[in-house]
Amino acid sequence: MTKKKIVVLTGAGMSAESGLKTFRDSNGLWEGHDVMEVASPQGFAKNPELVLHFYNQRRRQLLEVSPNAGHHALVDLEQHFDVHIVTQNVDNLHEQAGSSNVVHLHGELFKVRSTVDEGHVLEWKKDLVLGNLDKNGHQLRPHIVWFGEMVPMLEIAAQITQQAEILIIVGTSMQVYPAASLVHYAPRTTPIFFVDPKPSVRSSDFEKITIIEKTAANGVPELVEHLFREFQP
Ligand code: APR
Repeated sequence: MTKKKIVVLTGAGMSAESGLKTFRDSNGLWEGHDVMEVASPQGFAKNPELVLHFYNQRRRQLLEVSPNAGHHALVDLEQHFDVHIVTQNVDNLHEQAGSSNVVHLHGELFKVRSTVDEGHVLEWKKDLVLGNLDKNGHQLRPHIVWFGEMVPMLEIAAQITQQAEILIIVGTSMQVYPAASLVHYAPRTTPIFFVDPKPSVRSSDFEKITIIEKTAANGVPELVEHLFREFQP
């Protein structure tokens, strides 16, 4: 008996209870920073040290935090379902918890890449500074998709979402495209479960949506229990 395919789209709210700031909540990451200064190619060209410092701070913090009950519940889900996570998050908390299939739409904090050759990606957990060069002598940069840059994993993420028999969306304000468009790739008949204490969607937006106005660490474990009961013979 093949396992039903569950696709989980996660955003910053998934990691909030692990201690990582979201972007657009009060006291969010973008409150203290101008995104174009710290998360755009123009910002990097203008002041690379500022950008490298911004990501060094986030990388150091990621070394200190752990997955929360929401991340762990998504791993449990793999016992009975074929689970594919498509995350906007650049943290590695899904991987730390043990999720098997994780696609990062916006890159990964613990990776860096050449400023010249996009495909030249390295694992990197320490600070990145000017003078850290790739094997051809070009400056390394965070392996993060900045505002205005292409999202290389979009096509793969869309193909995954098109095959969703159940779609779970956790902790995203659905304000950033193309990530926010992924929900429309799921078949119209696919049930959607939306976990967010302040949901940005209405039940009238989709044919089969269940909105769970709870945090990831509370709502996702409860949802997983429900799915085990509801969809398991
Ligand atoms: N559990 C679940 N959801 C939460 C929690 C929580 N504990 N706390 C906050 N949220 C919800 C908020 O209500 C909001 O809907 O998480 C969402 C966070 O929204 P954003 O801060 O906009 O984060 P996200 O949607 O992931 O941003 C998308 O924007 O800045 C870019 O590249 C960046 O990947 C990011 C993208």
